[in-house]
Amino acid sequence: MTKITVSAPGKLMLLGEHAVVYNHPCLVTAVDQRMTATVEKTHDALFRLDAPDVHISRYVKPISEIGSGNIPKGAQFVEVAVKNVYKKYHLSEGVSIETSSEFSALFGFGSSSASTVCVVKALSELFNLRLNEKDIFDLAYATVLDIQGKGSGFDIAAAVYGGTLYFVTGGQKIEKLPIQSVPLIIGYSGLKADTVTLINKVAEKAKKYPEVIQNTYEQIDKLVELAKDALIKGDWQRVGELIDINQGYLELLGVSTQKLSSMIYAARDNGAFGAKLSGAGGGDCMIALAPKDTTNSVQKAIEQAGGTIISVKPNDQGVRIET
Ligand code: MEV
Repeated sequence: MTKITVSAPGKLMLLGEHAVVYNHPCLVTAVDQRMTATVEKTHDALFRLDAPDVHISRYVKPISEIGSGNIPKGAQFVEVAVKNVYKKYHLSEGVSIETSSEFSALFGFGSSSASTVCVVKALSELFNLRLNEKDIFDLAYATVLDIQGKGSGFDIAAAVYGGTLYFVTGGQKIEKLPIQSVPLIIGYSGLKADTVTLINKVAEKAKKYPEVIQNTYEQIDKLVELAKDALIKGDWQRVGELIDINQGYLELLGVSTQKLSSMIYAARDNGAFGAKLSGAGGGDCMIALAPKDTTNSVQKAIEQAGGTIISVKPNDQGVRIET
């Protein structure tokens, strides 16, 4: 085999963001908007990348130089992923990669993580490396840490395993929850958030008020445990209440914004079980859990608060071979 196409899902954080960076659990679901990578072996010892979604066109570099020098932002994750796989398995062949996405890189659905996972999986197939899910997770997570220095890896786990996961920092625990679906509504705030900036903002607060912030992480941990059980039981009322409490803690951490909060209150005031921001905060998306009969009014209210509804299905399949 010389060419393969692989896809991996985006993700949405349900509960537990920020605390999950510091050895606590979170709940994350894979969404049915996917990233696709077509990877082909070549004979020229060159690394080539086309990633139109992140403005990378005809990017070329000798394989011997990948991972070093100036790497354009849009090429970082794919290039460093290839470098990490090549280094570990002593590979040197040329490779040509094309990525494309069903979703905008602006939503915070984890396009970089999903493309990293696609590339690791594709290389495993092309070079017969026989990597299992945990091997793919470990290589892709190492890539994220090489680039960002920080992050729990929850987005990588969602892209690899799919479904809805109970996840602890660095993949210490990755448990797929036996659920069919979640009555989720997603509102995009129109603003792009930078995860590392927000993690650093929270870290500053933790330096200043260590006990308050540690205690907050522990409270979020408890919420995640309760929400895990409620999710499995399909007790959406209870999950919604826990989501609301989680949002209170995210306000405390200082990562919500006026826009996100307006969208969240709009959802709650129009019949949602609960609503919170999803991900790092500072922009990106909010989520609401709503009964069927209020879905329309909740969606309208989020739009009136300035949000854009993004239609996705949660609980999607993990990384898979397409052709
Ligand atoms: C960002 O989407 C979620 C954070 O918890 C970071 C992470 O877990 O890597 C803030």
